[in-house]
Amino acid sequence: MGRRAFVGYAAAAMGAFLGAFLATPIVGSFVSPALKKATPGHWKNLGTVGKFQIGTPKSERVSLIKKDGWVTDVATRLVWVVRLADNDYVVYNAQCTHLGCLVEWHPEDKAFKSPCHGGVFKMDDGIVLAGPPPRPLDALEHKIEKGELWVNYQDFRLGVGEKVPI
Ligand code: FES
Repeated sequence: MGRRAFVGYAAAAMGAFLGAFLATPIVGSFVSPALKKATPGHWKNLGTVGKFQIGTPKSERVSLIKKDGWVTDVATRLVWVVRLADNDYVVYNAQCTHLGCLVEWHPEDKAFKSPCHGGVFKMDDGIVLAGPPPRPLDALEHKIEKGELWVNYQDFRLGVGEKVPI
């Protein structure tokens, strides 16, 4: 092989290597969202059970660290904790299941209400009492450990009748 041919092959090989090196993250950014599984949730400590009173829902903020490729983002979400009895809790994702407005507690009606389109939800089981929400409030998995309440935070698809994790 002549010197000129060798340099040509070497340049082509180098170009192919660089092209593959640069293309990998670009291709990955298109392919990975399609391959992503539903996020498994995030266990968050909501504090000691003593701060939740029976029959009086309390909102709590949870911070989530979300990674998408190289981007790391801290997102704040809201949950509603309802203590139904001494050891009986329900924790709702505060997003209205219609379009995601954050529901508010209305003690006079013992109901959660969406500020957006008139959605109303029952306190103890989250079922829809009025308005367009297609399903009850999304109850979240939770547990009590050493006197502290933990929630497995999860978002769900909005505007659909099924509870689909996203
Ligand atoms: S977002 Fe709640 S009723 Fe529309």
